[in-house]
Order: sequence, then structure tokens, then C-alpha cells
Amino acid sequence: QVESIDTLLKSSQREGDTTRVQGWIRTRRDSKAGLSFLAVHDGSCFDPIQVVVESNVNNYQSEVLRLTTGCAVDIEGTIKASEGKGQAIELLATSVTVVGWVEDPDTYPMSPKRHTMEHLREHAHLRPRTNVSGAVARVRNAIAQAIHRFFHERGFNYIHTPIITASDCEGAGEMFRVSTLDQTNLPLTDKGEVDYSQDFFGEETFLTVSGQLNVESYCLALSKVYTFGPTFRAENSNTTRHLAEFWMVEPEIAFADLADCANLAEEMLKYVFKAVLTERPDDMAFFAERIDKEAISRLENIIDNDFARINYCEAIEILEKCGEKFEFPVSWGIDLASEHERYLAEKHFKKPVIVLNYPKDIKAFYMRVNDDGKTVAAMDILAPGIGEIIGGSQREERLDKLDARMDEMDIPKEHLDWYRDLRRYGTVPHGGFGLGFDRIVSYVTGMGNIRDVIPFPRTPRNVKF
Ligand code: 4AD
Ligand code: MG
Repeated sequence: QVESIDTLLKSSQREGDTTRVQGWIRTRRDSKAGLSFLAVHDGSCFDPIQVVVESNVNNYQSEVLRLTTGCAVDIEGTIKASEGKGQAIELLATSVTVVGWVEDPDTYPMSPKRHTMEHLREHAHLRPRTNVSGAVARVRNAIAQAIHRFFHERGFNYIHTPIITASDCEGAGEMFRVSTLDQTNLPLTDKGEVDYSQDFFGEETFLTVSGQLNVESYCLALSKVYTFGPTFRAENSNTTRHLAEFWMVEPEIAFADLADCANLAEEMLKYVFKAVLTERPDDMAFFAERIDKEAISRLENIIDNDFARINYCEAIEILEKCGEKFEFPVSWGIDLASEHERYLAEKHFKKPVIVLNYPKDIKAFYMRVNDDGKTVAAMDILAPGIGEIIGGSQREERLDKLDARMDEMDIPKEHLDWYRDLRRYGTVPHGGFGLGFDRIVSYVTGMGNIRDVIPFPRTPRNVKF
């Protein structure tokens, strides 16, 4: 019976029992007394298990003494109280089977020393074996599971929205193209023109930048929904918070206004942070020790305090009066730059801040126009250390207002007639938001670069794995 190292380390009062584990060698140390200590990890938890191998194990000389970091092993042994500090138990091996050797230990890129993040990125296929990438993967999973649980407990339905699309939700023109219209192989119509209806899709198609428009249609039927999937942006930004392919969580609620969206977002973030602290204390302790001193305390503070909430115009006033030298000048109407967002969250409020009601000219076409005619019911949540982690809004549910916005912004209506139908047939106030999933993982772990919290990052000129 094979046991995960996590269950083994968590179980107590089992000294003398036999068990079997499978995993990879992290280190081997030989003592003068003629026995070896193996640290074996299987990724189920942060810690490896210490395995003591005595020289009477039959392949001790021939194989155990040749084990190096990265070798895969299958071990049977007896559970013993550990004399060393740290772990309560260790395993005294009765058999060690080598499942996979490391062919050339000198070239193994994950040798047990400390590696730079750049080095790990160059070996993204092997980095999950390291402490840091293993911890990130488990925390990432815990966050994803907590998000699903949060929505499930509140009666939300999880909707799978499409990846291939013909419409640009955010209107920023940052879409990766999937297909162009076939110009060469199509038959001609009676009039002698290319018959595009015979093209694969009959339209130009792209990878989606957001599942929002599609999820709105399910919201206006199932009331509380969310989508959680990969999204794509062809923005050529080489920063520590942008990916060309990232994961987004997008809830959408009916009969709801902007304040309802902000409340939902705040409640969700607190729920997720609490879950990570209770479910992954081992990994979080590692992040606090090695990556970011405040990894744990930051989350604890957030759970116990309200987020700040301000209107965009107040944010502008704060930035104008603060005396800080910004690279980008501040005045009403600007889109907040990363430096402004970070000033508000890090220096001014020192906690997450929800900025509400932005000027309509810097926001997407679907956001609900406020009575002042100048602003829209938008919200961004800014967090210390990272800036925007959530962007959302109340949607424009009035067809005449939506059409006026689309005209103003030169958005062709033909691709979005179905979206406009939602305003023709039983429209209701509704709204939602998008959480940048990878950004929340950066935030929780304190990892400074978003490329190190997604298994295989896609960024400009980087798609090796
Ligand atoms: O603010 P954004 O563009 O909003 C939307 O896409 C809306 N349709 C969401 C909605 O209301 N349903 O993106 C939402 C979040 C941002 O706050 C940010 O955290 C993240 O997605 N994000 C990115 N994360 C990583 N790399 C990128 N290139 C990102 N672009 C946005
Ligand atoms: Mg945004």
C-alpha cells in the first residue's frame, strides 16, 4: 500500500508500522557509521520524509550509495520516531527500489543548491521538483479550489465560456488571431465574389480576452454564475505582472449593482486568503521565510479589516496632493498607472483599496453610465505590492444607452447583436468582475514575478515549453 508523504507525516502514533512511499530524492547524506539518509519528496506537502537506509539493505552498496538528487525511488520501511529536529517521524528502509536514475548527475539542472528564478524558468519542465515551484503549485491549487468552493457554497453555477471568439470584449485590440478569412481557396458566388460563408468560421476569429460577454447571457438566466478559464492578451508588455495567457475568474450576478459586486469581491478574497492560511501552512511558512517576510501577516491583516473604498475622483485628489513625484502626471481623466495604483494601496491606505466610478472614456463599452454622464459604474481592486488584481463593473442594461456607447466608441454592432438581445428580452441590472488568477497567486505567495507562479508562462518571445 503506497502512502503519500503528506498523510504519513500528518499521522501520529504509528511507530513500528510498515509503509511504502514513492518519490524523488532531494538529497543523500552518508554517515561514517555505514548508513545513509535520504530526503524523499513526492510533492504532496512541503517537507520531504527522511529515510534511513542501513548497509544491510541488499542493494545498499550497488545502488543506494549511487543515488543522486532527482532519482525516482519506491521505498518500503518501518515508521520510527525521529531523533533529529524538525520532523516527528522517519522511515527505516527495508527495501529501496530505484525506479528511474538520473543519467548524468552533473547535468541535472535541479541540483540541491539554491537556483535563481531565471534558471528555474529556463527549466520550467523540471522546476516543479524544487521547494519553491512545488510550494507555488500547491498554493495555486488551494486558491483555485477555494474559489470554486466559495461560489459553490453560495449557489453560483460554473459556466464554461468559449476560447475562440469573434468579439473583442475589452475593445483594446489585444487579441491573438485564430483565423483570417480564407482569401484563396473559397468558391465564388453567382456574382463572382469570394463566398466567405464557405470559410471555416465565416468570420475572423480570435482567442478570447475575457469570458464576460458570454457569461452575462447565463447570468440573465441562472442569476449567479462564474467562469474560470484561460484568457489571452496580445499586449506587448514585458512586466512582472503581465502574461499573454493568464487565468481569469469572472463571476456575474443578476439584480445587482456596483456595491453588490464590490461586496462579493471583498468577501471572495477574504475567503480565499483564509483558506490558504489554513490549508497550506507549510508552504506559507516557506514563503514567509524565504520569499517575502510579510507573506502570512499580510493575509491575516486583510482577513480582519475592511478594504478601503473610494471614488476615482477622490483617488485623483489623493494623488494630486500627496507630493510624490510620479513618472506619469495625474489629473482627472487619466487611467491610473501602476505607480499610482501602488501608491494608493501601499503608501496611502496600506491595504487593498476599491476604486469606484471611473471616467467613461478610459473604460470598456459595456460599463453602465452613471447619472453624471461622465463616469461609469466601474471598480478596480488595488492591492499593495501588485496593483490591480480585480477589474469589474455594473453592466449597461439599457439598450439605448449601450447602443449610444457602442456608436461613440465605433464598435461594430453586427458581432454583438446577440449581446444586445440580452437588453431587449428581460434585461435587469447586473454586474460582475474579473480576478486575475495569476496575480492573486503572486500576491499570496509574495513571488515577485508572475512568470514564476504559472507553470508554463507565455510572454513575448517565450513559448519554449
Ligand atoms: O480589468 P480586466 O481587463 O477586466 C476584464 O477583462 C473584464 N471583462 C472582467 C469582468 O468584469 N468580468 O481584467 C481583469 C483582471 C485584471 O484586474 C488583472 O488582474 C487581470 O485580469 N489581468 C491580467 N493578468 C495577467 N496578465 C495580463 N496580461 C492581464 N490582464 C489583465
Ligand atoms: Mg482592468
